[in-house]
Amino acid sequence: MPARPETPTAPVRLADYTPPAWRVSDVALEFDLGIDSSEVTAHLTLHGDSDVPLRLDGEGLELLSIAVDGAPLHADRWRQSDVSLEVDGMRDGSVLTTRVRLQPAANTALEGLYLSGSRETGFLLTQCEAEGFRHITFFPDRPDVLARYTVTLRADKARFPVLLAGGNPDGAGELAEGRHWARFVDPHPKPSYLFALVAGRLEKIEHDYVTAEGRAVKLVIWSEANAIDSCHYAMDALVRSMRWDEQAYGRNYDLDVFHVVATHDFNMGAMENKGLNIFNAKYLLADPDTTTDDEYKAVEAVVAHEYFHNWSGNRVTCRDWFQLSLKEGLTVFREQQFSADMNSPPLKRIEDVALLRRAQFPEDAGPLAHPVRPAEYREINNFYTATVYEKGAELVRMLAGRLGSEGFRRGMDRYFAENDGRAATLEDFLGALGAANGIDLMPYLAWYGQSGTPRLRARGRYEAEAHRYTLTLSQHTPPSASQPDKHPVPIPVKLALFDRDGAMLPLHLDGRTHGVETVVVLDTAERSFTFEQIPQAPVPSLLRGFSAPVLIECDYAPAELALLLTHDPDGFNRWEAGQQLAARAFDDCRSGNSQALDAWTGALAQLFGKPDLDAALLADLLTPPGEIELAERQEAVDPSQIHALRQTMQRRLGQAIGAVALEQRYRELAASGPLALDAAGKAGRRLQRRVLELLALIAADAAHALAIGQFRSARGMTDRLTALAVLVRHGADGATDALAEFRQRHADNPLAMDKWFAVQAQIPGEPALARVQALEQDPAFTLKNPNRARALLGTFASSNPSGFHRADGAGYRLLAERLAMLDALNPQIAARLATAFNGWQRLEPVRREAARQALTDLADRPGLSRNLSEIVASVLSR
Ligand code: BES
Ligand code: ZN
Repeated sequence: MPARPETPTAPVRLADYTPPAWRVSDVALEFDLGIDSSEVTAHLTLHGDSDVPLRLDGEGLELLSIAVDGAPLHADRWRQSDVSLEVDGMRDGSVLTTRVRLQPAANTALEGLYLSGSRETGFLLTQCEAEGFRHITFFPDRPDVLARYTVTLRADKARFPVLLAGGNPDGAGELAEGRHWARFVDPHPKPSYLFALVAGRLEKIEHDYVTAEGRAVKLVIWSEANAIDSCHYAMDALVRSMRWDEQAYGRNYDLDVFHVVATHDFNMGAMENKGLNIFNAKYLLADPDTTTDDEYKAVEAVVAHEYFHNWSGNRVTCRDWFQLSLKEGLTVFREQQFSADMNSPPLKRIEDVALLRRAQFPEDAGPLAHPVRPAEYREINNFYTATVYEKGAELVRMLAGRLGSEGFRRGMDRYFAENDGRAATLEDFLGALGAANGIDLMPYLAWYGQSGTPRLRARGRYEAEAHRYTLTLSQHTPPSASQPDKHPVPIPVKLALFDRDGAMLPLHLDGRTHGVETVVVLDTAERSFTFEQIPQAPVPSLLRGFSAPVLIECDYAPAELALLLTHDPDGFNRWEAGQQLAARAFDDCRSGNSQALDAWTGALAQLFGKPDLDAALLADLLTPPGEIELAERQEAVDPSQIHALRQTMQRRLGQAIGAVALEQRYRELAASGPLALDAAGKAGRRLQRRVLELLALIAADAAHALAIGQFRSARGMTDRLTALAVLVRHGADGATDALAEFRQRHADNPLAMDKWFAVQAQIPGEPALARVQALEQDPAFTLKNPNRARALLGTFASSNPSGFHRADGAGYRLLAERLAMLDALNPQIAARLATAFNGWQRLEPVRREAARQALTDLADRPGLSRNLSEIVASVLSR
C-alpha cells in the first residue's frame, strides 16, 4: 500500500479554482465489510472531455482491479500515484469500476473507514469531510462534484447486524455463510464528503415524524447498547430542530429516514452526512447523572446544527473549501437563533460573544489569523476554525440585521431556491440576499476577505447650548503579515443614549426620529453622527447586541459603565457594560488604583440583592472576562500574574457582596428540591456555582464544607462536577476523596471519565503539570481516543493558562512531545491541540523563549504530518 504522503505540498489557492474536467452523475458502491480488511467496489458514471485524462483522488488504497464499461483496463491506460489515479481516453458516459482494499482497524487517523471501540465489540463507520472519501475509493473528491449514490453493504450478520448508509432504504436480505446485505439509494445528488456508512452491533430508538409538507419520516438514533437510554434528549432536540426549521425558514426534511449514530471515537463534534448524521457521543448522549446543564445545551445545539446543514450545506453545498463558511458560518448562525428561541436570547448571546472573544479574537490577532474566506491553505482540516465558524456566523448576523427579519427570510428563501442542488459561493449568498431586497450587499465581501478584528473607536461631544450630541466613529484594522494594508469594512453600530438617571433618550438623527435605539453604519475610516434635542450629556450604549464583531474602544468613566450595568433593559448590553467595567477593574488591580474596581464591585453588590434579576444573568454578570481574554489586552503576558490578579478582583467582588449574603443565597439555591432540567433549574444551578466559587475565595473553609456537602448529595452531574471543581482547584482537604469517589461511580462511563481528567487538568498554577503527568500514567488514559486526549492535554494546554504557561517551559515541552506522539496516530487531533501555542509571541520574554524553543524543536522533527507541520510553521511565523 502506498505510504501516506506527508511531505509538504504546495498550497491550494482560491484564485486557482477551475471547474472539474470530469463529473460523476451516478455512483454505485459495494462494500464487503470486515474489521481488518474491507473491500470497496465503485462504479462511476463519468462525464467529461475524452481529450483530458481523468484524474481521481485516492490515498492509502490498495487497488485490486480496474475496468471500464465492464472490460479490464490495460495497464498503459492508467497510472496510480500516492494521491491519485489517472486514466486516459475515458469516454463521456462510460462507467469506471475500481475495486480496492482498506484496513479499517489500522486506521488511527479516524478519517475514511475506521473502527470505533474494540475489535470484539466495536463497529465500523466513516468520516469523509473534508477529504476523507479519497481514503475509501478513487473519486473526484471535491465538493463541486455532485452525484447520486447507491450503496450496497455486505457483512457477516452476527458481527454486523446493523448496516446503514445515507439515503432511503432500498432492500436488504440474506447471503450465504451467515452474511447479509442492505442497500440505500440517495435521490439527492451530493458531494462525496457527505457520504457515510455505519456497520455493527447497535441499538436504536425511533420516532415517527411528519413534516409540515406531509412527508412521513422515520427518525432513528443509534448507539451501543449501554448508552441507548441516554439518547432520548437528543431525539427530543432533533424533533424540535425539525419543527423550528420548518417555521423559521420554511425548510422541510427530504428523505424517508433520518439516522443519527453516536460514537466515542470521533475527531470532531458531529457530522452532517446526508440522512446519516454521526455524532461524537459527547454531543449526543445525555442523562442527568452524567451530563451537566451546559452539556445538555451543547447536545441541543449540535443536534440542531447538524440537522440544519441538511439545507445549509447539503441541499446547497459549497463550490470549494474556501467557501466553507457559506455552510458553517450560516449554520452556526441558524443554530444560535434556534438555541436563543429554545432558551433565553440574551443568555445565548452572552455565551456566543464570550466564545468569540475567547476563541476567535486571539486567533485573529496572531500568526494563525486568516480571513473567513481564506485565500490559500495546505491542509483544509486546519481551517475548521473559530474564524470560519464564529466570525462567519457574526457576518451572517450582521447581514440579517441589515435586512431585518422579513427581508432576511425573503433573502434566504431566494438563496435556497436559486442554489438548491448546486455547489455555491459566498457571492451567490450575498447576491441572493441582496437581490431579494433590492440592496447591494457586496461591500460586505470585504469582511470575508480580510483577517484581523477591526478596532472601532468612539468619541462623543456634547454641546450643551445646542442640545446636540455628536458621536464620531472611526475604524482601524491592524496590519497582518499577509495583508499589510487593511481596508475599512461596513460596521453596523446599534446604539442608544442614556440620560444620567438611566433612561433611554429618543433619538433624532438626520432630521428623523428613530425611537430609543437605532443602527448607524460606519462604512468609511471615520464618520460623525449628530443627535439633536439631547437635553443633557448622555451615556452612549454602543454596539448593542454586539452588532458587529469588532473591538470597541470608548473612554467611559467607570460610573458611566456602572450606570449601563445597572440600568440597561437589555440583558446582553448590561453584561457587556459589566465586562468592560471588569476589564478596567482588572487594570486597577494591576496598577493599584481602585476607581473602576470599586464601581464594578459596588454595582454588582447592589444587583446581587435585586430579587427580580434572572439567576443565570446574574451569574454571568458576576463573572469577569476569562484569563485568555484578559491576556489579549496586554503586552508581555504573564499568565500566572493574570490568574492571580483575576482572583484578587473576584475576591474583592466577594467581599463587596459579603460572605453572609453569599452563603445565604447559596443555601436558598441549594434547597430548591429535586433536579429540574428546565430553564429555571439550570439558571439556579448556574448562580449557585458562581456564588460557591466567590465564597471559596473569601471564606474557604465554609465554602469547602458546602462543596463537600453538595458533592455528597448531588442531584445530578452539574452539582457533582461544580463541587468537585471547587474542591480540586483549591486543593481542599476533601478533594482526593471526592476524586476517588467520582472515579469509582463513573468508571464505566467514558464521558464522565473525560470530566474527571479535565477537572484535574484545570488545577491552576505550578501543581498542574505534575498532575497531568501522573494522569498520563493512569490506566484509563490513552492518546488514541480524541476525547480523552483532549480532556487531559487539550484542557491543560488551552483552558489552563496559569498551569500550562510555566516560566520553566516544562508545560511547553510536555505538549510538544505529546504532539509528536499524537501526530503519528492522528494528525488532525495533533494539529488542533498545537494551536494552544498561538499567542506565544506576546508572552513575557522568559516564557516566550521557552515556547519558541519547544516549537522549533517540534518543527525540526522529521516526518511530521501536513496537518501538524502547517500549524507549527504558521504559529512560528512572524
Ligand atoms: N461539518 C462539521 C464537521 C466536520 C468538521 C467534519 C471538520 C470534518 C471536518 C459539522 O457540521 C460541524 O460543524 N461540527 C462542529 C460542531 C458544531 C455544532 C459547531 C464540530 O464538530 O466541532
Ligand atoms: Zn457544521
